[in-house]
Amino acid sequence: MKIAVLPGDGIGIEIVAEAVKVLRALELPLELETALVGGAAYEVHGHPLPDSTLALAKTADAVLFGAVGDWKYDKLERGLRPEQAILGLRKHLGLFANFRPAICYEQLTQASSLKPELVAGLDILIIRELTGDIYFGQPRGRRVAVDGHFPGADEAFDTMRYSKPEIERIAHVAFQAARKRNKKLTSVDKANVLETFQLWKEVVSEVHAQYPDVSLEHMYVDNAAMQLVKAPKAFDVVVTGNMFGDILSDEAAMLTGSIGMLPSASLDKANKGLYEPSHGSAPDIAGLGLANPLATILSAAMMLRYSLAQAAAADRIESAVQAVLSAGLRTGDIWSAGTRKVGTREMGDAVVAALTQKTITKS
Ligand code: IPM
Ligand code: MG
Repeated sequence: MKIAVLPGDGIGIEIVAEAVKVLRALELPLELETALVGGAAYEVHGHPLPDSTLALAKTADAVLFGAVGDWKYDKLERGLRPEQAILGLRKHLGLFANFRPAICYEQLTQASSLKPELVAGLDILIIRELTGDIYFGQPRGRRVAVDGHFPGADEAFDTMRYSKPEIERIAHVAFQAARKRNKKLTSVDKANVLETFQLWKEVVSEVHAQYPDVSLEHMYVDNAAMQLVKAPKAFDVVVTGNMFGDILSDEAAMLTGSIGMLPSASLDKANKGLYEPSHGSAPDIAGLGLANPLATILSAAMMLRYSLAQAAAADRIESAVQAVLSAGLRTGDIWSAGTRKVGTREMGDAVVAALTQKTITKS
């Protein structure tokens, strides 16, 4: 099983190192090959997604990704910004289905910004369409030429678009996921204002006919944002477009205590995938050994489960993470009084120790 390891920028480097440590501790026949991506690749190759990195990602059975981006690239032309690497990987690998679970670990209910009773036991799944929408429509602005010339500096636009087949395939993924859970799907749109999401709503309703055992509700995105903090446990599976999914998944992540806990999977039609933490590169704490590696470690578990058919190994990692949390270890983002604050490496070491059944020292 060949895994392309793409740490990227900022904390991506240190958190991926911990996930790699955990993967190696499993003693599975995994071949890990690392390549540059994002700003790190731009520095060396002049492009955030060099051909060699894309080729590696295409030939691998799965991709483990860290994070990309740094403020120092803010002035670069759009096509060379680090973010283009992840967008390019999603597009070139056809990773249209993004799974972002938001699970509130029992040990972390105190770390949520919401009242514990609102989030205790929370387990929702946001499914974000990942290769369409305003992210990939025709842009126009100061740094993006259209037909070879740049428009004036006083106007910019991006185009929101979806086609029926794009909506159908993500709807099928969402109904199937809902079927494996509590058979309840919420489709989030803005059909009251946008043509794109009027089509979205119609197509999701059409696909629903093939899944009569799943209940479907439609919700406007503004209301969904509100309901997520009002009564998050009322949701089970949420499906939405690329842009709304980007925003709502960050919001949902925070319900669980920290975005530093949340893994994600981006899958193609054959379940080949890219796995990354839901958070970004956090340049403000990069290199300091403070970042929470658990989202990336849990992403590696998702990778084993979804793309490499190693469910037992995935379970082992997830139990090890539980054990470490139960032992009271916390990185700064999930720390609360009475627990022990640890750094990135110590957290990774503790997961490895729990995996290999060594005892974790409590203090
Ligand atoms: C995410 C990120 C990306 C996105 C950025 C880095 C391009 O915010 O994965 O949610 O907007 O999709
Ligand atoms: Mg985002």
